[in-house]
Amino acid sequence: MPTSSLFPRSCTFTAMALAAAAIAGCQSSTPGTPPAAPAAPAAPAAPASPAAKTAAVKGSFGTLPDGTAVDLYTLTNAQGTELRAMNYGGIILSLKVKDKAGTPGDIVLGFNDAASYVKDSPYFGAIVGRYGNRIGGATFALDGKTYTLAKNDGANTLHGGNKGFDKKLWTGTTFEKPGAAGVTLTLTSPDGDEGYPGNLQMTVTYTLTDANELVIDYLAKTDKATPVNVTQHSYFNLAGEGSGTINDHVMQIHASRYTPVVKGLIPTGQLASVEGTPFDFRTPTPIGARIESKDPQMVLGGGYDHNWVIDQKSPGTLGPVLRVVEPTSGRTMEMTSTEPGVQFYTGNFLDGHHIGKSGKPYVRRGAFCVETQHFPDSPNQKSFPSTIVRPGKDYASQTVFKFGVEK
Ligand code: GLA
Repeated sequence: MPTSSLFPRSCTFTAMALAAAAIAGCQSSTPGTPPAAPAAPAAPAAPASPAAKTAAVKGSFGTLPDGTAVDLYTLTNAQGTELRAMNYGGIILSLKVKDKAGTPGDIVLGFNDAASYVKDSPYFGAIVGRYGNRIGGATFALDGKTYTLAKNDGANTLHGGNKGFDKKLWTGTTFEKPGAAGVTLTLTSPDGDEGYPGNLQMTVTYTLTDANELVIDYLAKTDKATPVNVTQHSYFNLAGEGSGTINDHVMQIHASRYTPVVKGLIPTGQLASVEGTPFDFRTPTPIGARIESKDPQMVLGGGYDHNWVIDQKSPGTLGPVLRVVEPTSGRTMEMTSTEPGVQFYTGNFLDGHHIGKSGKPYVRRGAFCVETQHFPDSPNQKSFPSTIVRPGKDYASQTVFKFGVEK
């Protein structure tokens, strides 16, 4: 069984900043001097779309029910992709990317106003933490001390507790640099926050590059040992939000193993082979092909709601996680990450009662989430890679979503 030594948890802020800069830096090769134009008479140039510009703009997204003003950040790139996010929960509100015909469509679920997110949202678009996914029994022991967390998912704790990072007001600063635009969100999670030890200084950066990548950098520093496992909970439907189920999306996950669960979706501790199971996405397969399988693990999840163990060539560095294609629109999404796991959740708990941005109900399996992470319940699972961050040993994680089209 792999041990934590095979999955280095932390790298330095400097290394991650360099990685982010390298990604943004890829853009410098794009513009250059164009080759000589062909002799054929050129069609009149289409007017440049106002969105086809690399920019980060801060605005207002109204108020929370208690009157707190909410900031809106709009990031655009040279390909006409537009991402909107707010400082409440660091929530990604919309993500408009072009389909194979060049028509933009919003590929994430969400609402049109901040109050709806406060009222009733299953983590649409949010940053989740301090510990994304579940910790069994809502308790863990660390350095001889037992910590008690909120039981907000049956007997377990889920996504940071009652008031996780998804429900906090972050502080955002927009930035623009060559070939990229972004927003840096910061938060102090105080010692004892939702039962977790240590003052945690958290930074999450969304960078939209002209190569059509959304780069997410997570950095944290603590003054006491604490588990940290932060991720992004966007719900994707590459055919467009509200356009039915994701069953026809074709998914490939670069993972030979997954972590089976018991009732309540807490891992057994085993790393099981995907071979011969509905969890084998090593070759591209429609999400819906085996989703109704009677495999006991599929029954426990009500569909896919499990952690895949990524086949990492170089743990702790950016490597391939998955690729998904939506055949009708041709939209593709590729993910790379430094994380050893990904929670692939097929919106099994959606039931149509959420009415989304374009007035359509979000039906069961109307979206999927791909949450890069360390494995669920790691603080209680000795054989899993460690999620413990300590003073002087900072947390750094990076995930990149790359959007494209396939004809
Ligand atoms: C994660 C969990 C799911 C569910 C969703 C939110 O993906 O694994 O079980 O809690 O978040 O509804």
